[in-house]
Amino acid sequence: MSKQPPVLNTTRKFPDNMTSAHALVVKAKRGEKGNAKGKGYAVPAFNVTTFQGINAAMKAFELLGSSGLLAFSNSALKHFGEGDQVFGLDVATSYIKKMAKKSSVKIATHLDHGDYITEPGRKVLQAAVQRLTSVMADNSTDHINKIAMPLKDNIELTREVVDMAHPVGLSVEGELGVLAGEEDEDTKSEFSTYTNTDELDQFLKETGVLMLAPTIGTMHGPNKGKPGQKVKLNIPLAHDLLKIANEINDEIVFVAHGASTLYPQVAEYAVKQLNEMGNGKSADRQKWQDFVGTDWDQIEGLIEAGFCKINTDTENRQTFLAALLGAINENSAKIDIRWYDNQCTDALTKSYIQKLIMAGNYGVWHEPKINVDKFKFDLGISLKDLISQAS
Ligand code: G3H
Ligand code: 13P
Ligand code: ZN
Repeated sequence: MSKQPPVLNTTRKFPDNMTSAHALVVKAKRGEKGNAKGKGYAVPAFNVTTFQGINAAMKAFELLGSSGLLAFSNSALKHFGEGDQVFGLDVATSYIKKMAKKSSVKIATHLDHGDYITEPGRKVLQAAVQRLTSVMADNSTDHINKIAMPLKDNIELTREVVDMAHPVGLSVEGELGVLAGEEDEDTKSEFSTYTNTDELDQFLKETGVLMLAPTIGTMHGPNKGKPGQKVKLNIPLAHDLLKIANEINDEIVFVAHGASTLYPQVAEYAVKQLNEMGNGKSADRQKWQDFVGTDWDQIEGLIEAGFCKINTDTENRQTFLAALLGAINENSAKIDIRWYDNQCTDALTKSYIQKLIMAGNYGVWHEPKINVDKFKFDLGISLKDLISQAS
């Protein structure tokens, strides 16, 4: 493997208003909005699992003029494809292509936690290269033996993906270090290891990836720490890693997995609904009260250290579920299921708008259609009213 890795082909023409994830994220690292250059911002990668999730995200991007990043886990693709991930890719991508065509912003589609280790993983990754605009090759953990993948193997497997994806214009995200928590319904890790600075230089040079997920203490899922305690990320390590990456190529961007902050008002809203419904399941109430996200100041620290793609799934799932509880509490005998669907989709849209504003990802492709300083994320107020209050 002495040959130089292929550079990303940036001349590839994707369908209308679609581009590689790297194109959007490097723009954020440079702080580019329209023709202006300012402070760096981040592009949240929203894990979408349903058509309504796609609609909610697209609406949020449009309202804010944001760079949009839609991510698909293997299990989400199974869900779209009724068990068949490749069919799921076809179904989801043809829908997004139509949505993007009428969009006022640019979006990217990304395979989240794809792996090139297992046979099924390789099959999905190869299919994703044909259909998406970006892929993750997560080869840092040997999930069968529950150990960290040896560096040499992680490099070789990731490089195979870069060889396949970069010439056709798809950005590749690698992972170095082991992240704790559940990353897919089939893959989870009880342990975590920080990214090793000595290994970073070799990994980046030999794989050629332009997007990398190092591990600095974030974690997947709704229990990122003990209730009442603040999650502390290794921000000094993030800066050390950034320095190494920038010396190789300042277009390399870092990705924060497990970047959900979790909104306290969402948990409070859910608990209120459970109380009002007299729900006997006190264990569920306790679960809502025990959820712990990573405080935004920690994520901001990462953004300053070049983590310009921030993966956000759990907090949006929580918002959806809290809204469903609220809808059922308000009316549990409405036969028109579109009403429940709309309540949950509107809530998801609010959650997405809130995170895009926090990340500074607005006014990138056009001026926001709402006043971002006036937007208030509140599950008790309809999306229509929140938008008009911020107009
Ligand atoms: O990090 C990954 C996501 O949270 C994926 O979750 O496999 O249940 O869609 P999922
Ligand atoms: P959260 O569980 O914090 O939302 O992280 C999601 C993620 O990293 C998807 O890749
Ligand atoms: Zn992840």
